[in-house]
Amino acid sequence: MPTSSGLFPRNFNKTFPIASRGEGCWIITEDGRRFLDASGQAAVVSIGHGVAEIGRAMAEQSSKIAFAHTSQFHTAPADKLAARLVSMAPPNFRNGGRVYFTSGGSEATETAIKLARQFHLETSQKDRHRVLSRRQSYHGSTLGAMSVSGNVARRAPYEPLLAEWGHIAACFCYHCPFDKTFPQCELACADDLQVHLREQALDQAAAFIFEPVAGATLGAAVPPEGYVARIAEICRENKILLIADEIMSGMGRTGKSFAVQHWGIEPDMILTGKGIASGYAPLGAVLVSSRVVEAFERGSGAFIHGFTYQAHPVSAAAGNAVLDCLEAHKLFERVNSAAQELRGVLSPLQSHPHVGDVRGLGLLLGVEFVKDKTSREPFPREQNIAEKIRQACLEESVLTYPTQGCVDGLGGDHILLAPPFTISSEECALIARALQSAVAKVFST
Ligand SMILES: Cc1ncc(COP(=O)(O)O)c(C=O)c1O
Repeated sequence: MPTSSGLFPRNFNKTFPIASRGEGCWIITEDGRRFLDASGQAAVVSIGHGVAEIGRAMAEQSSKIAFAHTSQFHTAPADKLAARLVSMAPPNFRNGGRVYFTSGGSEATETAIKLARQFHLETSQKDRHRVLSRRQSYHGSTLGAMSVSGNVARRAPYEPLLAEWGHIAACFCYHCPFDKTFPQCELACADDLQVHLREQALDQAAAFIFEPVAGATLGAAVPPEGYVARIAEICRENKILLIADEIMSGMGRTGKSFAVQHWGIEPDMILTGKGIASGYAPLGAVLVSSRVVEAFERGSGAFIHGFTYQAHPVSAAAGNAVLDCLEAHKLFERVNSAAQELRGVLSPLQSHPHVGDVRGLGLLLGVEFVKDKTSREPFPREQNIAEKIRQACLEESVLTYPTQGCVDGLGGDHILLAPPFTISSEECALIARALQSAVAKVFST
């Protein structure tokens, strides 16, 4: 980035190349360098970069009408996209469920927190306001979303500003917070919700929010069989709403429309973002189940919340065009075969003494690096291993998404891989080769 740039960067100590073009799984910079987007940026890009139809659909919508305020109008592309999303959701959304569109994931989380609170007001449960969540989680960067998040590093500077409604144990078998092993653990991490409700929050709890596959913070940690069903059961028994944050795992990323569909559960709300418009427009959504919608319809009739740019017609047009593309090329179906291929080429990596785990579901994968494979001890944080791996992959022209802190909020290094669903065999091989070279380089010293 030129030092004369007016942009406030994410990091003043880094330089940022100028991305000028995208083609499929590749990003091309102004100076002509080509990078393979192995992380779909941040698990955003599903259909690939540079798909011309999407831009055309957005231009067409904006030439008809670019904006109409939702306090006065609805628009056809938003109505259409809402109906399509509801039809992709679990059965409890299909008869009367609705969609609240936002401009991204954090706004979707904020909206869900307020929907949960107002749902209980509408149903005369005035004490219920706490949205419980898990440690080692991420639900967004605004203050409400950050309050329910458990990502230690991202919360740290803002702790004095955050509300504390209650966090329970993470679900992370590779570093089990109870030092147990599945199935002997009997899902202690799910039962932690019951324990918390009983001991601290029973009458005040409004909802529980979780990432069905824990994305950025834990590096694609998949819950063991029975976990998601047990969580859903505890929420139902205790009359609190279940919010599935599928901002990263939704819209086909794990091989199904929404990850919860792998376990056949019916959350009360599903949050989505990122892949919903594959990065072509800022868009997020809260899918609201019929039961929650009914409470508003029968109650006050008005949700006291709103954003100027919610349900933006041009973003909705992008969402519809992306869905058209996903459907026309059967890209959800492609996720499983592409994931198998990618995991296949990554498998030799697992014999490396510092590659602890390769995990994930569909095309949401994580590779964790450990100091000691037997004890699963992480490297000291100061060694900055995840960032060094990212840097070494970049030298091989492959983009990855590094994070530290998966073990205890500070220690633990992983990278996330979440390429577009269009990734080819050759591109999978390039990713594996870059990672092989990165581990050889980073761990040779
Ligand atoms: C699971 C999850 N929830 C919420 C968010 C926040 O979304 P956004 O960055 O679009 O505000 C993210 C972003 O990474 C996420 O992964």
